[in-house]
Amino acid sequence: MAHAASLIVRRKSVTSTQDIARDLAIGSIVVADHQTAGRGRLDHRWEAPPGSALLVSFVLRPNPLLSLAAGVAAAEACGQGVRLKWPNDLLLKGGKVGGVLVEATPIKAICGIGINLSWAPAGGSKLNQPREPLLERLRRKVDTWSAAPSLEVLARWRELSDTLGKSVRVELPGRAVEGLAEDIGPGGEIIVDGVPYSAGSIIHL
Ligand code: BTN
Repeated sequence: MAHAASLIVRRKSVTSTQDIARDLAIGSIVVADHQTAGRGRLDHRWEAPPGSALLVSFVLRPNPLLSLAAGVAAAEACGQGVRLKWPNDLLLKGGKVGGVLVEATPIKAICGIGINLSWAPAGGSKLNQPREPLLERLRRKVDTWSAAPSLEVLARWRELSDTLGKSVRVELPGRAVEGLAEDIGPGGEIIVDGVPYSAGSIIHL
């Protein structure tokens, strides 16, 4: 999709860019300076002081590997050695610098990306890059990677991964398992000691 044709909606303050994007056509992009109810994965909140982060949602066609593809796109757009913690946390110097939240219906996927630029929460990292050039690179990368063949997405995710080869704890509803993160499977699941996990979060041990 030619990104020059996409609609960009810019807002000073929104509840969440995801909420605005939900009602827009495929190809639209929503960017805000501030979110009053930013959301992360697994019902976490996503907080950032006004003007301190890139907060953007892309309206895309649904695609089963979209959340990994968006992580790859965001890591490449950031550069600076940003790497991926499964499934799609962006890590810089060991701290989380950004994240991806995909909310999908059968006809639309709202792909939200948040990147800390001039502020980070305790334990997090900030990218210290200007927002607009980063957004421009991200648009191009999201166009490319959201349309890429699955095998290419998986191969690039493996290259950018900070998780594979590490001992990890997989936190699942009601239990946790520890083991070696060996690979990702064809659907993007993390394979720990031979067992695929597709939900939950992981901690690098
Ligand atoms: C995560 O790491 O848990 C995902 C964070 C995703 C945050 C972004 S900011 C833009 C978009 N709007 C939201 O409310 N969330 C995503």
